[in-house]
Amino acid sequence: MSAILGLSTIGRSIAVIGGTGPAGMGLALRWARAGETVIIGSRDAARAEQAAQKIRQRVGKDAKVSGLENSAACAVTDVLMLTVPFEGQADLLKQLKTAIRPESILIDATVPLAASVGGRASRVLGVWQGSAAQQTAELVPKGVSVAAAFHNCSAEILNGDEDVDCDVIVCSDNPKATEIAMELAVKIRRIRAIDGGKLENARIVEQITALLIGLNIRHKGLGGVRITGLPEAAYRVGRDS
Ligand SMILES: NC(=O)c1ccc[n+]([C@@H]2O[C@H](COP(=O)([O-])OP(=O)(O)OC[C@H]3O[C@@H](n4cnc5c(N)ncnc54)[C@H](OP(=O)(O)O)[C@@H]3O)[C@@H](O)[C@H]2O)c1
Repeated sequence: MSAILGLSTIGRSIAVIGGTGPAGMGLALRWARAGETVIIGSRDAARAEQAAQKIRQRVGKDAKVSGLENSAACAVTDVLMLTVPFEGQADLLKQLKTAIRPESILIDATVPLAASVGGRASRVLGVWQGSAAQQTAELVPKGVSVAAAFHNCSAEILNGDEDVDCDVIVCSDNPKATEIAMELAVKIRRIRAIDGGKLENARIVEQITALLIGLNIRHKGLGGVRITGLPEAAYRVGRDS
């Protein structure tokens, strides 16, 4: 499908906004290992470069990873991955509004956890728009398409060396955004990507993360999700998976 739409991420770079935290670093590491060009974004350019250096050290000299301040990162590519805490999401998107390129695809992994306002990490906050991803969609410049994805993968596993035993449910109102998010998901070994329908379904996917956090605390694990029983065509898998 990507060939039909002319949307392949080959030759593009992915800017991970808030990429210095565990979720962004884990995704950046996995994409760098898959040969993608990755830009770590941070509010601080030096911190971004330090994070990029850590990834280069782990992946090897061929890793195409650099670090930039968030707005500079947005300005150089049109594939953005947002991995910041919910408490900072809205303000950051407002600040980045002029830097985000029109026609960009923004993939949002934000979970509106109560922990971000001092509550329990296993509870979600109500978001007026329905979900953190729908809030993002309201705040990005016109022409930018938002997909919600990667909420249910443990950052700890992403930052490790084992395969990632998890399905990534992608929700978006835009087929291009769904396609890019699915394509990037299956660059990570053993991840399967599933089209989860409209962006409004992100509310449910975001809430699953809170459930997973609770389960992982209770059972001392790093659980993810697998959706079973769908026709084979519903599962996108990577070449190595
Ligand atoms: N951790 C997981 O396992 C996991 C899994 C799935 C989804 N998520 C979601 O992914 C997002 C990131 O998770 P994380 O654990 O990586 O979070 P985090 O470590 O708390 O934050 C990630 C980065 O965001 C930046 N940041 C922090 N506060 C900010 C603010 N107020 N405004 C702008 N930027 C800010 C920081 O980078 P700089 O200081 O360098 O700018 C930080 O390194 C969260 O929404 C989380 O719910 C996490």
